[in-house]
Amino acid sequence: FVKGDLLYTGKAKEMYTTNDPDVLWVEYLDQATALNGKRKVAIDQKGLLNNRISSLIFQDLAQHGIENHFIEQLSEHVQLVRRVSMIPLETVVRNAASGSFERKFAVPHLTEFSTPVMEFFYKSDQLDDPFINDSQIEALGVATAATLTEMRRQALLVNQRLQTIFAEMNVQLVDFKIEFGMTAAGQVLLADEISPDSCRLVDLTTHESLDKDVFRKNLGDLTTVYQEVLRRLASVEGGQ
Ligand code: C5P
Repeated sequence: FVKGDLLYTGKAKEMYTTNDPDVLWVEYLDQATALNGKRKVAIDQKGLLNNRISSLIFQDLAQHGIENHFIEQLSEHVQLVRRVSMIPLETVVRNAASGSFERKFAVPHLTEFSTPVMEFFYKSDQLDDPFINDSQIEALGVATAATLTEMRRQALLVNQRLQTIFAEMNVQLVDFKIEFGMTAAGQVLLADEISPDSCRLVDLTTHESLDKDVFRKNLGDLTTVYQEVLRRLASVEGGQ
């Protein structure tokens, strides 16, 4: 595969075309942002760590019947993915209260839910990614009811599998965010990334954060924490 034109620069990744119109080249950057990009800091090895973590998770999900856009990891910072048309929604699944849920409803930190909570946020930097409900999504033409049903179905399957993986790593999966795209054939396909940037992870023994909250709340060195997540994930995924 040959790297083509820059398509898109995100907060932690750059996407390029390739010589195959159905394949995109994704470069994971060594930087972290918070407050919707208003705070940006260079972080040693972060791109490499998230690329590896996301690659291992996408491979695992595919092996467990959850199709996704991942094709292969090309190098330390690069992975190839299937090109899809992104649905501009962040799908958040929560197993326990944290972050915006905890603030909004004033419930104790890490209150466990008997059923996972699911929320959609409309992707817009200008609007700061507002919460959006089903009828608002349909009214704006962002997705159909059938697409939302399929996103919910897949998100719950992802949650089940991720909870299993992280439990084997002695980690609680508090919540996470995923994104979906649409293939040319109209299939809703899991895309974007799954990494400690987009998950809340808590060590089951020490109760320490093993995710981007370390950066958001200045709790310590992000690289060390992500290295630890990769170390445990690699041992669960067969020592890669
Ligand atoms: O902030 P909030 O509690 O709504 O975040 C829920 C989950 O979604 C967290 O795991 C967070 O890391 C993730 N998230 C994200 N990108 C955003 C907002 C939230 O990955 N723009």
